[in-house]
Amino acid sequence: MTETFQNDTGSRTHWNDVVIDYDKVLDTDESNVVLLATAVDRLPRTAAEILDIGSGTGRLTSLCRKALPAAAIVGVDPAPTMVAAAEKKFAGDGNIRFLEAIAEDLSVFPDASFDVAISSFALHHMELDAYDTAAAEIFRVLRPGGSFVNADQFCRVMGPAGSPERATDVLDLLTAKARHYLREACFERMLLQVDLLPRFMREDGEILTTPEYWRDALVRAGFSQVDIVETPPAELMNRVIVAVK
Ligand SMILES: C[S@@+](CC[C@H](N)C(=O)[O-])C[C@H]1O[C@@H](n2cnc3c(N)ncnc32)[C@H](O)[C@@H]1O
Repeated sequence: MTETFQNDTGSRTHWNDVVIDYDKVLDTDESNVVLLATAVDRLPRTAAEILDIGSGTGRLTSLCRKALPAAAIVGVDPAPTMVAAAEKKFAGDGNIRFLEAIAEDLSVFPDASFDVAISSFALHHMELDAYDTAAAEIFRVLRPGGSFVNADQFCRVMGPAGSPERATDVLDLLTAKARHYLREACFERMLLQVDLLPRFMREDGEILTTPEYWRDALVRAGFSQVDIVETPPAELMNRVIVAVK
């Protein structure tokens, strides 16, 4: 898409304030393209109803639509500007709709509503103490045998924000990512990373976890099998977590 996003006070996420051409910038980043493609490869081809959590501008939604042309897709996102942009993008597709909601509260959906819940680059926005609630909500809205497929960025060290071990790991990771984006993607992708760096360091709306932190929450919620799939380049810590109810 080519439009930009303007500020909207009252937002529950800073993603309401993103003013870059998000799709165009992210599409220059092959590591993100591969991450999303790996997630979509994990969609069972029989899935008829799909929930895209943190759907943003609908980049992952588009890939789901291409992979499963007949599936009904619902995207949820807390940023009204993102919901509006996604609605505009898919205005001609009567089998896709978007709502304002967060992973931690999917109460708008009855139990066992979906065959798959999928997500990309969204759930690292949650507070650390929200993972159990989100995992339980995702488990609840999936049908028995349904899957949760979560493509996201992770880190290697958990711990209190600002603790030397945690801060060093996150800083090393994010600066390596910024250099990678400058080399392999584009200047604007590097700038987005650098602009968000203070948020990641303060854990202000951008909170990295280890993949195992998510896995443990999913196991506690009742998922029977949880796999962590590495996508290249491994050192960027992009992973797809696949959990089966
Ligand atoms: C970086 S965008 C990713 C969008 C899209 N999935 C993609 O891969 O291009 C992250 C999105 O997550 C949304 N988000 C933030 N907190 C969330 C939460 N607790 N639950 C669901 N989505 C959330 C933001 O509003 C934002 O639109």
